[in-house]
Amino acid sequence: MPPIYKLDDYDSCLQKPSDVFCLLHFTLVSDEPSELLQIIEEYSEFKQSHFNHTKLRYGVCVTKNCQRYIYNKTSVSDETLEGCLNQSFWEEYQLRTKIEHYSCSSLSDNDVEIDFADIITGFIVLVLILLNVCGSLYDIYDTNKNEGMLACFLLSFSIKRNWKMLTSTKRPLDPRLQRLKSLNGLRCILAYGVIVTHCIIPYLVAAENVHDYELLYSDIWKHMLFNSSLMMQTFIVISGFFMAYKIEISFKNQQLNWSMVPKGIIIRYLRLTPAYAFIILLTATWFKFLGPAPLWEVTGKIMISDCRRRWWLNLIYMNNYVYDSQCLLHSWYLAVDMQMLCLGLVLCVLLKTYRLKRKILTSLFLIGITMAAVHTYIRDLYPIMIIWPSEGSLYFKTDPTFNEIYKMGHANFASYIIGISLGYFVYKWQSKEINIKKYSNYRYIHWIVGPLIIASIMSGAVFYRQAEKEPLYLRVIYASLAKPTMAILSAILIAGMIFKLESVYRIFFESNIWLIPSKLTYSVYLVHYMYVIIYINQQTSLIYFTMFNSIVLSVCITLVSLVTAVPLFLFVEAPFTELTKNLVKKPRKNVMIIKAHNDNENHISTL
Ligand SMILES: *[C@@H]1O[C@H](CO)[C@@H](O)[C@H](O)[C@H]1NC(C)=O
Ligand SMILES: *[C@@H]1O[C@H](CO)[C@@H](O)[C@H](O)[C@H]1NC(C)=O
Ligand SMILES: *[C@@H]1O[C@H](CO)[C@@H](O)[C@H](O)[C@H]1NC(C)=O
Repeated sequence: MPPIYKLDDYDSCLQKPSDVFCLLHFTLVSDEPSELLQIIEEYSEFKQSHFNHTKLRYGVCVTKNCQRYIYNKTSVSDETLEGCLNQSFWEEYQLRTKIEHYSCSSLSDNDVEIDFADIITGFIVLVLILLNVCGSLYDIYDTNKNEGMLACFLLSFSIKRNWKMLTSTKRPLDPRLQRLKSLNGLRCILAYGVIVTHCIIPYLVAAENVHDYELLYSDIWKHMLFNSSLMMQTFIVISGFFMAYKIEISFKNQQLNWSMVPKGIIIRYLRLTPAYAFIILLTATWFKFLGPAPLWEVTGKIMISDCRRRWWLNLIYMNNYVYDSQCLLHSWYLAVDMQMLCLGLVLCVLLKTYRLKRKILTSLFLIGITMAAVHTYIRDLYPIMIIWPSEGSLYFKTDPTFNEIYKMGHANFASYIIGISLGYFVYKWQSKEINIKKYSNYRYIHWIVGPLIIASIMSGAVFYRQAEKEPLYLRVIYASLAKPTMAILSAILIAGMIFKLESVYRIFFESNIWLIPSKLTYSVYLVHYMYVIIYINQQTSLIYFTMFNSIVLSVCITLVSLVTAVPLFLFVEAPFTELTKNLVKKPRKNVMIIKAHNDNENHISTL
């Protein structure tokens, strides 16, 4: 079979102004019956683990390799390119080609223009730096810290203070909050898992040895990686848990009123959005200076053009309800989180008033499951995200399972309810002051949670079998079980660690090494995807896939993301978190929902 990706050397190609390099997307065709084409089509039929080998993408140095057809940029057209490809494919494979679309670049495209938006971005960056400088100077030189508005504002930007906040290893005052320490480790591990999974993308888009990649699917253990997307449910559980638990702690037995709902949403919005908006802004503007590159068309450009077109969808946290949302593909989770928070706040106010927690939560849980199942049924989808090689190489642009079942808020609702229930449960049990020793036999249950989580992740392997699409009823059953099971297992894991049921998992997750990185998880989550795209973008030849390479890549991306996350945290995230805190501190005491109990606490609920 002809290779599906090919890349001529870009730099040596573009030497003279008349040189042209084109990225061609084309399909294989044949006028007469071709045995080879039939084999290729049959092989591609099995979408779950094979690329579509009739769909090729070559980066061709046309001035060198298509000289007979193309003289300069003006003579490039569908016809000439097709003629050139036709010839080489005919000689080698007795096949012909059909160009789907193409894009060409020459030396003159290397000068990227600076436009108005770039200048605005520069201005914003400058203002942020100035604010930080002023804030820090003010913090250092003004000894009689007054409490005025301006002082508060400036001090939020003090790098010294924010650095202290980042590196503080102080324990929370409230012993109940001290018990949440294990979540630090859990969040770090989950964030690393996200990065590892995203490190598949470079190989989907530009692997040299695609067949070695395809073979991964036949190894059952590798499905730990392919189905690890289920672990996002744990993030959702943690998010629900914090919301409910903090409201319980902050309001004890007081009544809540409805004004809390908009207030809570605004506070959360103000805290999460600045850093997020800053990353979107950078992507939409300065990111383009990383181009042009041979693969620019299928990497950076896709992301930039969507960020320029639909950034506002991201800012209102609705980007998970549209198809092909390429502006920070991974930010669907932030949207889900925000949507769930809105529902969760309403729910918590309701539950405070009506004391029917168990009944309401159970019915909502069932409704959540039903929504996911019905959606799977009506749209005839797969129950979990499938990493199809051919869909993945297009960033799941049109894959309905990814765009609906995986990303959309309502399909993840059941897990959030589990999170909220966990919050109430932990609060109630903590106030009962139970002697946990009595329950020590349950630690065996806790121990098998780990293997069970692994088993549920691996169970997704059934959908990659070389067989017909599974019957609809099986997929619907799996859709209603997979996410809730993962959510319940995560909830048991978390509860066990909070109540010190056992020490094996706890020692690992509560280790002090997670303390600082866990405050950076939000920033790391925001930036890591850019690095994945930059990595692909920088390639001037195809990437050779090996398991070792991909692990090294994930570690490197984690490290650069951590390093970048520090300034992002100090200059943007922490100041705005402080500002929001000050904003809500002024009026009555108990309007603070996501009120920070102390420095450590501050960042826990972010991601
Ligand atoms: C592979 O791509 C070709 C061309 O776009 C398409 O016609 C065909 O249906 C695809 N095959 C599969 C199995 O999706
Ligand atoms: C490009 O090639 C065409 C055909 O040979 C010629 O007519 C045209 O003048 C060339 N343009 C440039 C800019 O060299
Ligand atoms: C390339 O081959 C296809 C299939 O035979 C044909 O339809 C097309 O016209 C050819 N293109 C050129 C430019 O010759």
